[in-house]
Amino acid sequence: MSEHSATSDLMEAVKCGLTRARKALPPFLFYDERGSALFERITTLPEYYLTRTEHGILERDAARIAKTVLASLQGPVAVLELGAGTATKTELLLRAFVKERADLTYFPADVSPTPLTQARARLATNLPRLAVSPIVGTHAEALDKISRWEGSVVVLFLGSSIGNYEDAEAAALLSEVRGALGQRGVLLLGVDRKKAKEVLVPAYDDSAGVTAEFNRNLLLRLNRELGADFDPAAFRHVALWNEDAGAMEMHLESTEPQSVHVAALALTVSFERGERIHTESSHKYDQARVSRLLAMSGLCDVAAFSDERRWFSLHVAAPLDA
Ligand code: AVJ
Repeated sequence: MSEHSATSDLMEAVKCGLTRARKALPPFLFYDERGSALFERITTLPEYYLTRTEHGILERDAARIAKTVLASLQGPVAVLELGAGTATKTELLLRAFVKERADLTYFPADVSPTPLTQARARLATNLPRLAVSPIVGTHAEALDKISRWEGSVVVLFLGSSIGNYEDAEAAALLSEVRGALGQRGVLLLGVDRKKAKEVLVPAYDDSAGVTAEFNRNLLLRLNRELGADFDPAAFRHVALWNEDAGAMEMHLESTEPQSVHVAALALTVSFERGERIHTESSHKYDQARVSRLLAMSGLCDVAAFSDERRWFSLHVAAPLDA
């Protein structure tokens, strides 16, 4: 993606989000350089069980998952990972894939280039036989590239990244995945499961305050990239469980009446005390919700792997008519 379109995407998202009656900013805005580094720190926090739990499933079941995923696939295999980041936990899976098959190419895709560079360097050392070809771009761009691959395709969408989408949007994205798979592919989808809110809320409001920093970093990004004058100290991090949506939500709440100017948009936005910007929803799933989502996307659940507490699950899904 060119610098120009990246900036105009940002401008468009911020303009729409801050002029709505209920202010909101899309979570993809979190991941500038500092935001990506803060997210990496979140994944190591004691309260943030997601990454650790998914990693545990992969540690225990990577060989079985690899066999299940690769069983029906013929010819050279492209493994595309959407939102790969540093691909730390993916390494377990890739190691198991490489044991099953020699003709694999790993395409880690992300909008942020820095973690991809780290991933490539680490994999060159740890899995020297694996071909690695990073894609800097959006999910749509990565899927478009992979749909031209002539062999088989495995799409990895891990870490409950799907959780940032409402069900209708998630189904639209997974339908695009299904399109890229054609008749010769499999999706491995990681989802965070519904559980007690006593576990969920601290995962998004950790005691070290890293998630709060991650949330507020968005305002610093708008200051830097759009010439806004947000005072991050005047916004409180709020994490709450929305039962109706089946989602954890993060908001930035204005602690006082204030107005903020966004120079690049020639826009002044006013906030009442207690008014919130909704910055993220992280949807949580049960089996019925996963099956419904996959069915809406032309996919079906072939196999699932979970931890003992059933806090997280990995679903192997294949095109319905394949
Ligand atoms: C990367 C979207 C899976 O929703 O748990 C972590 C992002 N937000 N802490 C999540 C996130 C706050 C994360 N995902």
